[in-house]
Amino acid sequence: MVLILGIETSCDETAAAIVRDDRTILADVVLSQLEEHRPFGGIVPEIAARAHLQHADRLVAQAMRDAQVDFDQLDAVAATGGPGLIGGVMVGTMTAKAIALATGKPFIAVNHLEGHALTARLTDGIDFPYLLLLASGGHCQLLAVLGVGQYRRLGTTIDDAAGEAFDKVAKMVGLGYPGGPQVQAWADRGDPARFALPRPMKGKPGCDFSFSGLKNAVRLLAEAQPQPLCERDVADICAAFQVAVAESVADRTRRAVDLFRRQWPQGQHLVVSGGVAANSALRAALDRIARENGLTFLAPPLRLCTDNAAMIAWAGLERFRLGQQDGLDFAPRPRWPLDPTAPKARGAGVKA
Ligand code: KG4
Ligand code: ZN
Repeated sequence: MVLILGIETSCDETAAAIVRDDRTILADVVLSQLEEHRPFGGIVPEIAARAHLQHADRLVAQAMRDAQVDFDQLDAVAATGGPGLIGGVMVGTMTAKAIALATGKPFIAVNHLEGHALTARLTDGIDFPYLLLLASGGHCQLLAVLGVGQYRRLGTTIDDAAGEAFDKVAKMVGLGYPGGPQVQAWADRGDPARFALPRPMKGKPGCDFSFSGLKNAVRLLAEAQPQPLCERDVADICAAFQVAVAESVADRTRRAVDLFRRQWPQGQHLVVSGGVAANSALRAALDRIARENGLTFLAPPLRLCTDNAAMIAWAGLERFRLGQQDGLDFAPRPRWPLDPTAPKARGAGVKA
C-alpha cells in the first residue's frame, strides 16, 4: 500500500490531500481564496502567496486528521513545483520539503499540468495512451498522454486560455469574477443566433487555439449596444460567445482526435480537465466528437477538474511507484511545459 500527501498552492486554491494506490482519496481539502481576490476582479499574486502561507499548515493538518494517518505512515510528500504563481509554489514546496525533512520521507515536485493530466487515472483507472483537453484559466492544450512524464502536445493556445477568455468577457458585460460560471448561466438564457461572432481557428491546419480575437469581437459587439447593457443583450452576447468557444474548441479537438487515432490507434479515451470542463455546452460538443470517433468521453467530477491537491498527490504517487523523487534543492518553476519538445507558442507566455 502506498500513501502520498499532496499539496497544491500554484494559483488561488490552497489544498492538501492524501491518496492511496488503490485510487482511494482518503482526504481532500480545498480552501478557495475567491473572496480575497474578488474585489480586484482577478487573482493578485501577492495576496495569493500570503493566503497560502497563512493556511497551508492548517490544511495539511486537517487532511491528516480526515485521513486518520500519521506522518510516519506516508510514503512520500508531493507538492506542485510549477507552473504557476511563483510565490504560491514556493509556499507549497517549502511546506512539503519541511515535512519530508522532518519525517525522512521522499519529496516529489509535481508538475501541476501533470496533475490535471493524470486525474482520469485516479478517477477511472484508465490506461495510457489517451487524449486530453486541458482547459483552465491558465492553460488550453490538447495533449496525447502516453505515460507518466510522457506527453505530446498536439495543440495549445497562441494567446489567451479559454477560461481567461470567459473571465474577460464576463468583465466586459458587467458580470463578476470568476466569469465562466456566470457567462454560462447567462448564455443558457440567451439566443446564440442573434449576434454573429467569429469561430477562431476553425478550419485552420493544426490544433492550436486562439481566443483573443474573439474576446475583442465581443468587446466591439458589447460597445455597439445601447449602454448600460440590458439583460437581454447580456444574455445574447454570452450565448453568442459560448457557442463560438464551443465550436472553436470542438473543431480543434476533432483535428486532434484524428491525429491521435492515427498515431496511437490503441487509445480509447477523450478526457477533459480544467475549470472550463464545467461548461456544459463544451462537454456536450466533446461528448459528440468522442462518440463519432469511437472514443469514450471522460470528464472527472468537477471538484477534481478544478485545482485540487488529490491530483497532485496522485501524480506524486504515480511518480513514486516508478522510483522517482526530487532533491530538497528543487527550485520552483514558473514555466514547466509538459512536452519540452513542443515549440514555444509566441503570445502565450507561460500558458503554453
Ligand atoms: O482549473 P481552474 O479551476 O483554475 C485554473 O485556472 O487553474 O479553472 C478556472 C477557470 C476560470 O477561468 C473559470 O472562469 C473557468 O475555469 N470556468 C468556466 C466554467 N466554470 C469555471 N468556464 C466556462 N464555463 C464554466 N461553467
Ligand atoms: Zn489548474
